Amino acid sequence: KKIAFLASGRGSNFQAVIDKVNDGTIDAEIIALITDRPDAYAVERACKNNVPVFAIDFKSFDSRADYDAELLRVMEEVNADLYVLAGYMRLLDQRTAGCFPGRMINIHPALLPSFKGLNAQKQAIEYGVRISGCTVHFVDEGMDSGAIILQHSVPVFDDDDENLLAERILKEEHEALPEAVKLFCEDKISISKRRVIIKE
Ligand code: GRF
Repeated sequence: KKIAFLASGRGSNFQAVIDKVNDGTIDAEIIALITDRPDAYAVERACKNNVPVFAIDFKSFDSRADYDAELLRVMEEVNADLYVLAGYMRLLDQRTAGCFPGRMINIHPALLPSFKGLNAQKQAIEYGVRISGCTVHFVDEGMDSGAIILQHSVPVFDDDDENLLAERILKEEHEALPEAVKLFCEDKISISKRRVIIKE
């Protein structure tokens, strides 16, 4: 399968999948890194691994609509089987979010449907939950609302702050995202209504 990533920052989740492709665990080709931030560290990771970079510099567009149109054009041009949002920090516009049903996934640092949106780890600390984690889910038109593929949980300790919790969750993200990508690449995922069925 051909996989394209969208990332805005550090790209450690992107790297986790690269590593599993490189060591043969995942049978796929990473065909693109699409970023809204040309200075993102994810770009360096792409270059080191010969992944073509498509930088769509958000700041260089006159309007959000122009940016959205260019993003969608690039996504269609690279023509991936799977699009992975891995720390892509902008909301997709409705049209783009609905364009790749069952072919676009996101990793979110909380157990959805709790703590959608930004600063999920901080939200979890402030709410006082005892368990949090990460969720890999399909992308639909809503925010962090698509069908859930898998979740990994972590404990939240009394003396945690958002950084400690984020670090603990990130370790699980690096397991969960490659696991979900692998399942997709092996055609083991199907969706029935909004429930994901994973074949053994
Ligand atoms: C992760 O916590 C991910 O869940 C969230 O943004 C962060 C990205 O980290 N959507 P990285 O860029 O993959 O290191």
